[in-house]
Amino acid sequence: MKVAIYPGTFDPITNGHLDILNRAATIFDLVYIAVAMDVDKKTIFSVDERIQMIHDCTQEFTNIKISHFNGLVVDYANQVGASVIIRGLRAVSDFEFEFQMALTNRHLNENIDTVFLMPRVDYTYLSSSVVREIARFGGDVSRFVPENVQIELLKKLREKK
Ligand code: COA
Repeated sequence: MKVAIYPGTFDPITNGHLDILNRAATIFDLVYIAVAMDVDKKTIFSVDERIQMIHDCTQEFTNIKISHFNGLVVDYANQVGASVIIRGLRAVSDFEFEFQMALTNRHLNENIDTVFLMPRVDYTYLSSSVVREIARFGGDVSRFVPENVQIELLKKLREKK
């Protein structure tokens, strides 16, 4: 059984992430979406909220598991029996950072490889912070995130006011 993990902050999950997840789920037998708990970034959603949003918009997938992790991604991959880390490559600008991370992760664990998948071109410049920013200024994010995330974003922004 080929198991992969798709790690990220997912603050919040976007259609770009779902595009990558969809591709990964057709290639691998099981894909863990691994929500990183301990990140340098200041997140607007708690880990539980991020997991709940992912859960609500991935109901149609039959071969994914949603989880969270602390510490090194290779250690978590090892723990769940994954031999592959999935990363999305959106543009050339992602490459250098991803290259460094993939080689560092290989240095940390030779048995785990990184597989890069490219999302649809419409999502090339999408990121969670772009989505948060558009929503914060009252813009329409319906093209970028699933409906449940749109609702949660509006709720969160209202709470913050
Ligand atoms: N569609 C839309 N947005 C995407 C995307 C896609 N397909 N792929 C990436 N993004 C966005 C993310 O939402 C994120 O947006 P943000 O910066 O506005 O929040 C941005 O692109 C960067 O994404 P990514 O590089 O995946 O960062 P991340 O913060 O989501 O995840 C970890 C990084 C958690 C996977 C990484 O830091 C990690 O593995 N940490 C654990 C410690 C460790 O093992 N470090 C590695 C040693 S080298």
